[in-house]
Amino acid sequence: NYIKAFAPATVANVACGFDIFGFALDEPGDIVELRKRDEPGIIIKDIIGDEGRLPREPERNAVSVVMLKFLEHIGSTQGVEVTLHKNMPLGSGMGSSSASSVVGIFAINELLGRPLTQRELLPFAMEGERIACGAAHADNVGPSLLGGFVVIRSYSPLDVFKVKVPDELYCTLVHPDVEVNTKDARYILRNEVSLKNTISQMGNVAGLIAGLMQEDYDLVSRSMVDVIIEPVRSILIPEFDHVKQAALDSGALGCSISGAGPSMFALSRGRDTAERVAKTMSEAFGSVGITTKSYVSQI
Ligand code: HSE
Repeated sequence: NYIKAFAPATVANVACGFDIFGFALDEPGDIVELRKRDEPGIIIKDIIGDEGRLPREPERNAVSVVMLKFLEHIGSTQGVEVTLHKNMPLGSGMGSSSASSVVGIFAINELLGRPLTQRELLPFAMEGERIACGAAHADNVGPSLLGGFVVIRSYSPLDVFKVKVPDELYCTLVHPDVEVNTKDARYILRNEVSLKNTISQMGNVAGLIAGLMQEDYDLVSRSMVDVIIEPVRSILIPEFDHVKQAALDSGALGCSISGAGPSMFALSRGRDTAERVAKTMSEAFGSVGITTKSYVSQI
């Protein structure tokens, strides 16, 4: 009659893979508690950690909208009381809304005896993403639900697969205390891409996947280049160039924007390097008075 579940933050895009690459972090993540009610209907009892900013109406909040769709799909009138522990900032580029969608859909499926497989839950989680940021992209919900490094090969039909990554691959995620709205960060993108940039990006996408699978860190490093999105979006992040250079100078394989930003991520070989990179990236933001929170995760 009661369940508590966790879904992790994620890094989407991973430099060259806009809307198609993402991976899960160890922490932070959202936690949800669900309790069955005797009467039908979903009630949001409490949201902790959002400073009162998220909607409390079940049809407007990512954590519960996915549950409404799920209950309708399986033809259930089960009533549920929801408590959400929001453990990461909104508009952070860490897949905050995705973690809520995923934790919601995962928990209700478990509470009701797992009528759907994990993969079948993905389209529901994507609906939560549509409510939260206007686009049903899967590069955050995919890895938050399935774990590890995930590729969205196609959206229609949905075709998602996981890629094994080297054991020593670590992510540094640094969240500066500024906010970027995902809708805005998508709006400023151009709709057309030149053939020249498409060719570069395709080379890097292929190189990154091959590098991960072959444990070729140098190839991973050379492929962590985004010629399409990063040049446009980086203007929304104060000190972007300086922070990126600091990461590379302290040994990161590559560094780019996490999702729609403003968080930035770097990949490194080994935990020690990833910790050092966290320190120098935070110092670079700090040099202009921006406070940060950083996380190091094995991918
Ligand atoms: N791929 C999405 C974007 C992720 O970059 O807009 C948003 O977190």
